[in-house]
Amino acid sequence: MGDVLAGLIDLKLAPQNGIALTRQLSDQLRQAIAAGRLASGRRLPSSRELAQHLSVSRNTVSAAIDQLAMEGYLDVSKGRRPIVAAMPSANLISLEADRQGRANLTGMSKWAQQVGRSDWPFTEQGRPRPFVPGLADAREFPHAIWGRCLRTATRYALPRRNMACNRLELQKALLHHLVEYRGVNADAQQVFLMPTAQAAIALIARVVLDPGEVAWVESPGYGGARAAFEAAGATVQGIALDQYGLAFETSSHTPRLIFVTPAHQHPTGVLMPATRRQALLRFADRVGAHIIEDDYDSEFHYEGRPVAALQGSDEGGSVFYVGTFSKSLHADIRVGYVVVPECFVEIFAKAQRHTGQIVGMTLQDALSDFIGEGHYAAHIRKMTRIYRARRDHLCHALAAIETDLSLSPPDGGMQVIAQLRPPRKDHDVCLRLAKAGVIARPLSPHYFAEAQAQGLFLGFAAWNETEIDAGVGIIARMLHE
Ligand SMILES: Cc1ncc(COP(=O)(O)O)c(C=O)c1O
Repeated sequence: MGDVLAGLIDLKLAPQNGIALTRQLSDQLRQAIAAGRLASGRRLPSSRELAQHLSVSRNTVSAAIDQLAMEGYLDVSKGRRPIVAAMPSANLISLEADRQGRANLTGMSKWAQQVGRSDWPFTEQGRPRPFVPGLADAREFPHAIWGRCLRTATRYALPRRNMACNRLELQKALLHHLVEYRGVNADAQQVFLMPTAQAAIALIARVVLDPGEVAWVESPGYGGARAAFEAAGATVQGIALDQYGLAFETSSHTPRLIFVTPAHQHPTGVLMPATRRQALLRFADRVGAHIIEDDYDSEFHYEGRPVAALQGSDEGGSVFYVGTFSKSLHADIRVGYVVVPECFVEIFAKAQRHTGQIVGMTLQDALSDFIGEGHYAAHIRKMTRIYRARRDHLCHALAAIETDLSLSPPDGGMQVIAQLRPPRKDHDVCLRLAKAGVIARPLSPHYFAEAQAQGLFLGFAAWNETEIDAGVGIIARMLHE
């Protein structure tokens, strides 16, 4: 036992100091892990051994270990003795784009050089922790039903094999869903299955944009779109938002491609109303621009009826409609889709084959059965109820902190923005939170045009109410320090 306790002997609990013993223990262990004094992979003593050593009850120790497991500091899945999880270092979130310090980029194409310079995406290492944005709750996923769909699909994969990249049954089943729930208007052949929504966005950029052409992105907005357009050689302009979303009347440059998230603007959650949508479609038609409508988490809408997709009112054939199952179903069902304008069907099919952006047929067949048998719609209904409750819970808990946070709960989606009042800086706050076990993404790097608000971008979908409370507790403590 002496051996398993080596390195832990500096744990000191003071029963009389007014702070609960569980809290003292979890704080000290967390600090030791964050400071590297307990290295990742290190096995801790069992809760019984620790309790004996510290002369406290086993419940006290178990509660501290559970807390740290929830925060991602400890892995308790492998036996009685918790293991210190792989710890992100100070560069846990790639907050600072070290643009000059990148590796030597000579000998690479312009595309690769541009990709190398990009500061997207944000990367959090280690196990997902509250409040990683955009993450679906895998615990609520119907694993047994999905497993059955996969088994059936695997069994019949060979006899069904043909050379098409997009399985017609899935194109039809998905389209049926999109017509009914999102008001999409298309034929099945316009639906393309892609490995991710990001792959779809990048391929659209290559199909539509020539180097030097102007692409608009929302500011604040989705960094993945900006990165894809820059890599395609476009001149990317961040267009500021007003209360209706993209305030494009204020821009004088004519774009070739416009990226919008009208259902729940990413990251603010703002809904683009019908008048702005109509104006945007007319504008795109007039200047000959194409629009990417990224409907990434629009399946989850909590207030009133969801507004139908822009694509459904597009008469000029301008809109590429993009979505992803990684948000609506499970982060590891990495299948995105795009409904392309009719006149792009042929070229998009070739571009998809040329770049090899194909989703395996087993996965396509499993998804087709899952949707066709009604499980997809049922799952979305169930998760909408759960996510609505979590959104409310997180917003109430944050509102109760009484610090420098200001909130406007979104009508849908999977994340919320908590704005910080000056002089707080979101990068600093996020780094400190990461060290304390909570993931929040900073709002300010989402701005691609001048005005920059400071805020925390927090996902609520993947975390239950206990986890939300624990995470908000950490935010509260940090903001009160
Ligand atoms: C606005 C937006 N669009 C698209 C995506 C990408 O989805 P996928 O994982 O399918 O590439 C994300 C991912 O976070 C997103 O936030």
